[in-house]
Amino acid sequence: MEDCTFVIFGATGNLAKVKLLPALYRLDAAGRLPDGLKVVGFGRRDWSDETWREQVRAHLANKPTDEAVLKRFCERLSFFSGDLSDDQAFPELRDYLLGNADFPSNMIFYMAISPASFGRVSRQLGMVGLSNQDEGWRRLVIEKPFGYDLESAESLNRRLNQDFQETQIFRIDHYLGKGTVQNVLVFRFANLMLEPLWNRNYIDHVQITHSESLGTEGRAGYYDSSGALRDMLQSHLLQLLTLVAMEPPANLDAESLRDEKVKVLRSIRPIHQSAVNAHAFRAQYAAGRVDGEKVHAYLDEPDVPANSVTETYAALKLFIDNWRWRNVPFYLRTGKRMKQGNSMVSIRFKHPPQQLFRETQIDQLKPNWILMNLQPHDCIRLEMQVKQQGLELRAETTRLDASYCGISQQLDAYEALLLDVVDGDHSLFLRYDEVSWAWRVVDPVLKVWSTERDFIHTYPAGSWGPKEAERLFVRQDHRWRNTLEDDTQQDRIVPDYDETDPD
Ligand code: BG6
Repeated sequence: MEDCTFVIFGATGNLAKVKLLPALYRLDAAGRLPDGLKVVGFGRRDWSDETWREQVRAHLANKPTDEAVLKRFCERLSFFSGDLSDDQAFPELRDYLLGNADFPSNMIFYMAISPASFGRVSRQLGMVGLSNQDEGWRRLVIEKPFGYDLESAESLNRRLNQDFQETQIFRIDHYLGKGTVQNVLVFRFANLMLEPLWNRNYIDHVQITHSESLGTEGRAGYYDSSGALRDMLQSHLLQLLTLVAMEPPANLDAESLRDEKVKVLRSIRPIHQSAVNAHAFRAQYAAGRVDGEKVHAYLDEPDVPANSVTETYAALKLFIDNWRWRNVPFYLRTGKRMKQGNSMVSIRFKHPPQQLFRETQIDQLKPNWILMNLQPHDCIRLEMQVKQQGLELRAETTRLDASYCGISQQLDAYEALLLDVVDGDHSLFLRYDEVSWAWRVVDPVLKVWSTERDFIHTYPAGSWGPKEAERLFVRQDHRWRNTLEDDTQQDRIVPDYDETDPD
């Protein structure tokens, strides 16, 4: 891996403090950073290098650290004091970076700043020549959200392309750095036994859920103009869907992978504006209790307008119109202030075609599930039916756990992703066409919701969300699967085998 200068715009902000610097520190501790990598923090404060180092040291000291590594890591850090809205700051930054032999000429510019500034900062970097790759490579890392809708994403992309080529741009979706997300590919494509079942003939439906017990955590200013559909679903959950649904790529290089993901997004049946209510559901949390603690309603959070109809819960039903998936519902759902934090892909199989055990005590068999839990556990679980011990013919669910179920210590997604940026590997970053097709999926819903401003369903904080969201289900025996452990009683309702149904 080559030496480089890692410039963080927004170095004193939350993302840098909570994610980027700890991830860089841990990579350093693991001996994964090139020896000559330097980190330059760009921030408004009038700080010296030493002041910033002290701040970072104090922040990292709350976490398990090794004094020798911390010392080495802090020596990599320098602080550049500047204001993003001041055009003069950029020529000064260029002179600072290029005029100091300690800073390698390969450079990464990380936008840990408000999305409203992405276009402007990229333009300024281009105008002062810092996007130019004559002497060393230059890479631009963009956080989500990439745009606010399809139109603004197009316009942001055009702005970035004025100064940076697509090969220089790394659009982060931190979900792609999570262990189980990458495991989806290994699980699917390294095991022969799954592939014959991975289609409309055997899979009844797929659920992709991300629930959080947290609220907006001081980010209501951003969140209220975004909402759950933009914040989680358009990005993270649609990315998960592509990995679950894609065809095997020609190989594992970045373009082959991303080509297959785009094909999935392009095959999603467009939601016509008149069908939005049948395919999408939104709600907002009311006051309630999370882990026994009373919590406010969304409308009572600081910085939330009293008449806000921003959704803190969003659910979508999507269909992928291709040979593999036609007519298999994909239910995507996310919410804040729900009962527990959990992210999971749940794949429900169909019932066996013959009800062989009808006359026995196994009157209603439960279906098989594959559960891929991203967090709090990094776990893949298969649920199957076996005979209970004893004289009677009764069935029970047995669980086959793969991966590291039960151990919650995970690598932070940012560690993997930052290393890939340094290494120039685009596989886990979004190509622009992925972003653009993902916006096309949610845009009609956003348009309709933006006009319906007088009512939004609510759910009590600390619950699993509103009952009314069940209206999205296409069959009577569909129900939300909330956690790895939740009981599957309701699976028993009706076997879905139906001779008249060609699916
Ligand atoms: C972010 C969203 O992209 O992802 C947040 O903006 C959300 O609202 C977060 O809480 C969830 O990420 P994680 O890694 O904590 O599951």
